[in-house]
Amino acid sequence: MNTMISLPKLKIPPQLEGELDIARIRADFPILQQRVHGRPLVYLDNAATTQKPRQVIEAVARYYNEDNANVHRGVHTLSMRATESYENARRTVQRFIGAEHPEEIIFTRGATEAINLVAQAYARPRLRSGDEILISAMEHHSNIVPWQMVCEQTGARLRVIPINDAGELLMDEYASLITPRTRLVAVVHLSNALGTINPLKRIIELAHARNVPVLVDAAQSAAHLPIEVNELDCDFLAFSGHKLYGPTGIGVLYGRKEILAEMPPYQGGGDMILSVRFERTIYNELPYKFEAGTPNIAGAVGLAAAIDYIERIGRENIAAYENRLLDEAIRKLSDIRELKFIGTAAERAAVLSFILEDIHPHDIGTILDGEGIAIRTGHHCAQPVMERLSVPATARASLAFYNTTEEIDVLVQGIRRVLKVLG
Ligand code: ALA
Repeated sequence: MNTMISLPKLKIPPQLEGELDIARIRADFPILQQRVHGRPLVYLDNAATTQKPRQVIEAVARYYNEDNANVHRGVHTLSMRATESYENARRTVQRFIGAEHPEEIIFTRGATEAINLVAQAYARPRLRSGDEILISAMEHHSNIVPWQMVCEQTGARLRVIPINDAGELLMDEYASLITPRTRLVAVVHLSNALGTINPLKRIIELAHARNVPVLVDAAQSAAHLPIEVNELDCDFLAFSGHKLYGPTGIGVLYGRKEILAEMPPYQGGGDMILSVRFERTIYNELPYKFEAGTPNIAGAVGLAAAIDYIERIGRENIAAYENRLLDEAIRKLSDIRELKFIGTAAERAAVLSFILEDIHPHDIGTILDGEGIAIRTGHHCAQPVMERLSVPATARASLAFYNTTEEIDVLVQGIRRVLKVLG
């Protein structure tokens, strides 16, 4: 059992804190108030999953304590309350990403399921042998493997936009890779392995100029960068609740209404039908056509609470604070001669991937854990980008708005200790 400790007194320079009261924010995250191996927890694995504020935990608990019932099925009070909470959550997501219609929001298990849904229900019926799907060299496995699977099923081909050594897309090469055979571009907004922010607006403009739709993997970016699907003009966008301070097991697929309406269902079952006969089933309307079975109602409620929480703090405030923290971290880590950043794009957010001489990243992670510091080590579910940058793995510290400059200092001291022990 972890020891709970009283809140440390935070010394945050006012110019760094800006609009945010970090001590107050941290008080909302019960998990951060603990010691690991006798040291205050320094949680820097936010790209893997974020921690949950008590407002989210309480919203999920309240749902189960007071409202739990199945949705869209009952005339009784609890069922109506559960349905209202679930559909309100959809409208919260709609507002959060600036979608025009609530039925453009499909609840899924996560970004992974959202991308698989598009691969199977949008791409598979359309793809012919020789057609192409275009992704980038910095994709997470969840935006690679579903396309490989659908290519195998249809005889289509996967093409890859190359990157430079800093981890930035080569935009000229991208433009020339869009051909009359391209059926879809699927690209990450914010790379989980490198922290690169991709120029989405330009990517989408170039694809649309040739009538090619674009899917955006916003799994990492949703927590860090403002997203407006109408302004971006993307056709699909996927993200997960758990990387956005919400629960695991809930995610979102945004799809343009006219495209979703033409797509066949992804899975069959209850709730996605209007009527079922052995001779013929009539599918339900959007968004229910894509939500077979009892959905993750509590997850949707928790996700909406997370979005409310983020919006109360202000997405612009969060982005500004995290940028200042990232700059500070880059500056301090750059003083360590033996440290090499992997991913040095001009446009970056929230992620610091690095190697330390020839010390294995798992050893870095293990020693840092002994200091109470949680980072991720390995290939970050993005093996092809590791191969492209000629590293088997990296150590990755990833930030959230509850992190502090003091925690960056603890990380720097921890890395110096790793060098002392193993360097
Ligand atoms: N995709 C998650 C990460 O980057 C799990 O760690």
